[in-house]
Amino acid sequence: MVQSQVSSFDAISPTALMVAYTRQFTDIPYGKELAQLVNAESFIEQLQQKKLSQPSEVSVLVEARYKAVNQVISQHLQFETTQIIELASGLLPRGMAMSQNQNITFVESDLPAMISQKQQLVKRLIGERQNLYFDAIDATNQPSQFPLNVNYLHQNQPVVVLCEGLLTYLTLAEKQKVFANVREILRVYGGVWITPDLTTFDGLNQLRQISPGLQRLNQTASNVSGRAINNYHFENIDHVKQFAYEQGFDIKEYSMLEVMNQITCLKPLGIEPEVVKSMLAIGSTFVLTLCNS
Ligand SMILES: C[S@@+](CC[C@H](N)C(=O)[O-])C[C@H]1O[C@@H](n2cnc3c(N)ncnc32)[C@H](O)[C@@H]1O
Repeated sequence: MVQSQVSSFDAISPTALMVAYTRQFTDIPYGKELAQLVNAESFIEQLQQKKLSQPSEVSVLVEARYKAVNQVISQHLQFETTQIIELASGLLPRGMAMSQNQNITFVESDLPAMISQKQQLVKRLIGERQNLYFDAIDATNQPSQFPLNVNYLHQNQPVVVLCEGLLTYLTLAEKQKVFANVREILRVYGGVWITPDLTTFDGLNQLRQISPGLQRLNQTASNVSGRAINNYHFENIDHVKQFAYEQGFDIKEYSMLEVMNQITCLKPLGIEPEVVKSMLAIGSTFVLTLCNS
């Protein structure tokens, strides 16, 4: 159900337009249509007038994380009926793409205003689908707003929880609340959490050395969201693993290099394959499961 409360997290929502803009340079289904419907181009032009821009290489990161998450999902779809809950969906097209499979129940979620807008956009593009749901969920809220007792999810079947581009905007204390909410939902249904969002200072520093454009990584996103995201990363991969373990999760890491041959934005954006390879070598997708599950 869509509520009308406004939270401090709402300032993060316009960053969904920034990533939607980058997806139009890729072959991701509905990427171009969504970017056009929300006029992402004009949002980027307004940023440029304020002397803000995002490096074109961000498209590589956004395309890679979408495809890497999809690849890991497909490795975890061992069940005939599958329930997927995506946090902070923003303008991601995954719900539209995956709900074409009627065996999948897909729940898109985001803050109330964002998810309400998304629902309208999806309706315009594909109409309504019986297996595609939209929920207003602040992923950090306690008590949890996750779909724990809803009639559209089967209690005895596992869920796949997803998020990409959310945790990077949250402080460690806020991330901890998301971990607690995911822990609770996995205790109810079982399943896994797939996310590329456990970014580290080590990784960011390496990325910044790859190209001059990437030195500005996060600047515009920080400015737009009003959040000091440069301070919110984990120190390094050991810190990520320790944090996950302390929150009650086992964690597995998959290299983004696995989707290197699926990256399509380099040609339209004139990015060298070597740059793409160096970037993907730094990125990871993580699969988290409850300890002792
Ligand atoms: C950078 S955008 C990413 C959107 C989408 N995941 C993507 O990759 O295109 C960040 C998203 O996080 C959402 N968001 C911010 N704070 C949130 C919270 N506390 N709970 C749920 N979603 C949140 C915003 O509304 C926005 O859609």
